[in-house]
Amino acid sequence: MKTRSLVLMILLFCLLIVPKQAQAQLPKETEAQKTQRMKWWTDARFGMFIHWGLYALPARHEWVKNAERLTNDQYQKYFENFNPDMYDPHEWAKMAKAAGMKYVVLTAKHHEGFCLFDSKFTDYKATNTPYGKDLIKEYVEAFRAEGLKVGFYYSLIDWHHPDYTIDEVHPQRQTSDTAYARLNKGKDMSKYREYLKNQVRELLTNYGEISVIWFDFSFPGKNGKGRADWDSESIIKLARSLQPGIIVDDRLDLKDVEGGWDFVSPEQEKVAKWPEYNGKRVAWETCQTFSGSWGYYRDENTWKSPAQLLELLIESVSKGGNLLLNVGPTARGVFDYRAQDRLKSMGEWMKYNGRSVYGCTEAPAGFTAPANTLLTYNPVTRRLYVHLLAYPMGTLNLTNMGDKVKYIQFLHDASEIKYRAGRDNAKNDLILSLPVQKPPVEIPVLELILK
Ligand code: GLC
Repeated sequence: MKTRSLVLMILLFCLLIVPKQAQAQLPKETEAQKTQRMKWWTDARFGMFIHWGLYALPARHEWVKNAERLTNDQYQKYFENFNPDMYDPHEWAKMAKAAGMKYVVLTAKHHEGFCLFDSKFTDYKATNTPYGKDLIKEYVEAFRAEGLKVGFYYSLIDWHHPDYTIDEVHPQRQTSDTAYARLNKGKDMSKYREYLKNQVRELLTNYGEISVIWFDFSFPGKNGKGRADWDSESIIKLARSLQPGIIVDDRLDLKDVEGGWDFVSPEQEKVAKWPEYNGKRVAWETCQTFSGSWGYYRDENTWKSPAQLLELLIESVSKGGNLLLNVGPTARGVFDYRAQDRLKSMGEWMKYNGRSVYGCTEAPAGFTAPANTLLTYNPVTRRLYVHLLAYPMGTLNLTNMGDKVKYIQFLHDASEIKYRAGRDNAKNDLILSLPVQKPPVEIPVLELILK
């Protein structure tokens, strides 16, 4: 009886105390400290995502191995022919900077398992391809030299590692439990967990300050994978201990763990309002592609227009969020001409209108956006920005703003916008007189200096 209760007590200890202790090791942080840690990121508002790997060679989506159910052998030709002879990350960094982007996140490893960096724990890496060099090292140095904050995307999923068990999103996915059991016999996920940790340690140790890390992604459930499969808590603790300032996405399946994530990451989605978790507004970033794929996709033609892309950015800021816009470089190592074209247009706009983006957020309550406009607000300078998505003809009414506004100008050329008060029961409205002709700006912005 005595030994039984002792065993029970130990069991209880393990169940209740140990996991709590494990959680307690995540650095404690107040709300204000977290806001401060993330300030450069929330001020930046605009970053570049880069999806690059072996999938640039087939050039038909970064999930090609999955979609076509390719085996490692069938996929091997892309490894053997990987030789991005034109890779010049300085050129990439210059384009990102000119577009107005302030940070960058590159796929150090995507689901295919190929490592762009020189990892000690695998042979499946850039240094063993005809290219023969660590792509990550050059990338980190180049973007830093342009003054951008540097981040990594690291896939939790791995369709190449021998101990990674076949699951429902694997190229070799099955339809029955027995088939899964047969294929997974002998695979040891604990070895894969170790591999994950080792690689995260390498990435966050060997390349200097890393400002963002994207772990991707969890899909808990039967034939899925979640926090226990990755050992997510250890991974995030490791990340935070190696890079105390690092900003981490929310795909480790640790939503309910304090310190388990820093921002939510709605993918290819325009959010309806500022996202909340447990009733509180949270930091957020939407990641978006120029067209339908993250990796280079030669024949995909649904490219968004510069105006649509700018709207995405402005719309995010107007709801307190960031935009991480993706480029999928080709297998020669260059940005697709369509991507270059869009980056240039965005940069042209940002050059004159970045003030309505950087450091800006949702407008305070009480400011109503007129039809076809988006509002952003800089709480430090106390300026309100009205983005004219559809250019009005001659006049624009701002409802109930008369007592709040001191001066109005176009942002791109600082030219005065004259206005008068409304009449009768609309005396607090402002009626702006705008030039009939739309200024030569993709989305013109009005800057309102408030009282
Ligand atoms: C997804 C996809 C992927 C892409 C990512 C970006 O989860 O698996 O290919 O890397 O989202 O958010």
